[in-house]
Amino acid sequence: MRKMSVGVLGATGMVGQTIIRMMEKHPWFEVSEVAASERSTGKTYEEVMKNRWSASEEIPERIKDMKLKEAKPGLDCDIVLSALDSSVASEIEKSFAKKGYPVSSNAKSHRMDEDIPLLIPEINHDHLSLIERQRKKRGWKGFIITDPNCSTIHMCLALKPLIDSFGVEKVSVTTMQAVSGAGYPGVPSIEIIDNILPFINDEEEKLETEPLKIFGSEKNMHIHNADMKISAQCNRVSVRYGHMEAISVKFSRKPEREEVIDSFRKFSPIKNLGLPSAPERPVVYKNEENRPQNRLDLGIEGGMASVVGRLRECSILDYKFVVLGHNLVRGAAGAAILNAELLKVKGYLE
Ligand SMILES: NC(=O)c1ccc[n+]([C@@H]2O[C@H](COP(=O)([O-])OP(=O)(O)OC[C@H]3O[C@@H](n4cnc5c(N)ncnc54)[C@H](OP(=O)(O)O)[C@@H]3O)[C@@H](O)[C@H]2O)c1
Repeated sequence: MRKMSVGVLGATGMVGQTIIRMMEKHPWFEVSEVAASERSTGKTYEEVMKNRWSASEEIPERIKDMKLKEAKPGLDCDIVLSALDSSVASEIEKSFAKKGYPVSSNAKSHRMDEDIPLLIPEINHDHLSLIERQRKKRGWKGFIITDPNCSTIHMCLALKPLIDSFGVEKVSVTTMQAVSGAGYPGVPSIEIIDNILPFINDEEEKLETEPLKIFGSEKNMHIHNADMKISAQCNRVSVRYGHMEAISVKFSRKPEREEVIDSFRKFSPIKNLGLPSAPERPVVYKNEENRPQNRLDLGIEGGMASVVGRLRECSILDYKFVVLGHNLVRGAAGAAILNAELLKVKGYLE
């Protein structure tokens, strides 16, 4: 089978380089083009990434000598994965969709557009129907799909089995988010070393609104938002990778503790789709009272799972627990790749 060719926009950033790394052994896709800003254009990938490549493994051999191109249509690829800075993503992604490219985006720019799917394959792949509405409305040959904010993805994966089994009415979430979530070079070291920053621009709004669309029901190419209240507080903490979230939930029907753990463990909704990057266990429950931890648990399911622990009763809502997730893998690069795989099996890349 010929592999489909992929153009990576924002290939030099934290998310872009994670896409490059994750794509290297992909059975269906192969990176054919790398693009970034004017600062990088014309240089080889290796040259630009000299002091910025952040993985312990080497830059893949076949990518090293690729010349970085401008992020504009004309790239030789079947699909575009966008890891562009959100200040420029909107117009650039639209220009690709207009020219006929399918775009799988990490940026916030189009997540809440009414005709653009905000996807987590385990939760809402029926929202792909919005693509038809988007093409009709905008007259595009291509289209855009998006993945959610990195904290939103992990919270939603943990909530989905609970919603299905017991109904969820209210959620209170406090995040502790890694520095790599702010991109490269990100938060100045003088601000974050030995410190916690109790503000991340726009983050609380994303956590409070994106899940309502993700859990919304699809009818005739329209999404009716879920009826749920979410209150979020977001903090930047001094770890490199992984967002931890402390969550309390009010259920429609309060379950027994064992039922909650059971629902996490049985959650496996897209096994039959055969997506290569889909984790066998999207939600992993850890029994140990001091887990999950960033240093120990981010590698579970190759970083594609949300790791839950510390489930206990809450004296204000019903239950509380923590969720840990890799912000760059399942929270960004892996999410865009998984969405691209979903497009392929659903026939949108023909
Ligand atoms: N980091 C995370 O954990 C995370 C999680 C979820 C979603 N996201 C989203 O994913 C996207 C990428 O995030 P990141 O953390 O990888 O950011 P980053 O490290 O700052 O990388 C940004 C990328 O955008 C490129 N870029 C900037 N201005 C450009 C322009 N005018 N034209 C073309 N390319 C331009 C940069 O290229 P140069 O190197 O040439 O400047 C770089 O490749 C953002 O939209 C972010 O919100 C990030």
